[in-house]
Amino acid sequence: MRAYRIHDYAGLEAFRREELSTPKPGPGQALVRIHATSLNYRDLLVAKGLYSRQLPLPLVPLSDGAGEVVEVGPGVTRVKPGDRVAPSFMQAWIEGGPTEEKAKSALGGAIDGVLAELVVLGQDGLVAVPDHLSFEEAATLPCAAVTAWHALFGEGSIKPGDTVLVQGTGGVSLFALQFARMAGARVIATSSSDEKLERVRALGASDGINYKTTPDWDRRARELTGGRGVDHVVEVGGAGTLPRSLNAVRMGGRISQIGILSGAGEVNPIPILMKSVHVQGIFVGSRAMFEDMNRAIGLSQLRPVIDRVFDFDEARDALRHMESGAHFGKIVIRV
Ligand SMILES: NC(=O)c1ccc[n+]([C@@H]2O[C@H](COP(=O)([O-])OP(=O)(O)OC[C@H]3O[C@@H](n4cnc5c(N)ncnc54)[C@H](OP(=O)(O)O)[C@@H]3O)[C@@H](O)[C@H]2O)c1
Repeated sequence: MRAYRIHDYAGLEAFRREELSTPKPGPGQALVRIHATSLNYRDLLVAKGLYSRQLPLPLVPLSDGAGEVVEVGPGVTRVKPGDRVAPSFMQAWIEGGPTEEKAKSALGGAIDGVLAELVVLGQDGLVAVPDHLSFEEAATLPCAAVTAWHALFGEGSIKPGDTVLVQGTGGVSLFALQFARMAGARVIATSSSDEKLERVRALGASDGINYKTTPDWDRRARELTGGRGVDHVVEVGGAGTLPRSLNAVRMGGRISQIGILSGAGEVNPIPILMKSVHVQGIFVGSRAMFEDMNRAIGLSQLRPVIDRVFDFDEARDALRHMESGAHFGKIVIRV
């Protein structure tokens, strides 16, 4: 069967197409035919050795995919052949809070991922996908969508009438926009592109701020909330944006620290205490969160925003497209 594996941290070239033998499901496991996968910024970091240099190489990359169960091993009761499923990002994080043990089960990092025609996964690491979604759409959910869901509806859940600020128009941020709107919250979105800001307005954002032409977007966000500040920031920029997020958020508000798109650096902690800001680190989420989210997606008939679908042979082109930052939403690779 066809698969990609990385053997080193050579960047895009690290993704190598290979022929691997078809795996067999053991006790408690299912064989899943992957129909589509999707990229996360993390997959770029993995290929470049910026995520970790201790990965178990060679490694099948990518955490996100969706497909169909084709065979089950002894003792499997949670899934059956024909079921449409997606893997949970951390195979061992079923419910409750995160632990180091659970974090060691992340697909496409700690263990083999899903950029392959067939993968064997434990039955407990699989989630049924919403009926109305295609495999391409369902493949966008395991990392970006669950992360956005966890940020908004985990501890300190948002409520109708809240204002949520989302940064940029990548996978996590657009899911956060869609979920916040679903919950009756107002969304302020930032982007480097006016054209993309038009598109976020069409998705329900009330306001868009171009962070290139308005570098003090935090001030603008405060103005847009009558000087009060936003209730929640979905922070994907990291050290380069966190100081402004701390300015944009209201007293007692919440920042979900998710990403590092602007790189590393130092942040002054004083505003965190002076404004009593809840800064919460988010590392994707549990299977239970994924299942809760899928119920909401099914009920609301939400459709993920797909930027572009690449063929299996074009995995490197898909990564290059992500690296360019030209995308709006999720990049999918059809298998
Ligand atoms: N903690 C977790 O569990 C978790 C889970 C998923 C992702 N992440 C992290 O979250 C971040 C986003 O991931 P993703 O997969 O959604 O990425 P993505 O789809 O590649 O999104 C990238 C987009 O973010 C925007 N952006 C880039 N630099 C920015 C900056 N300095 N300020 C504001 N926006 C900026 C750009 O949008 P515009 O073109 O509109 O400006 C860019 O197109 C990454 O750092 C990723 O590693 C973390």
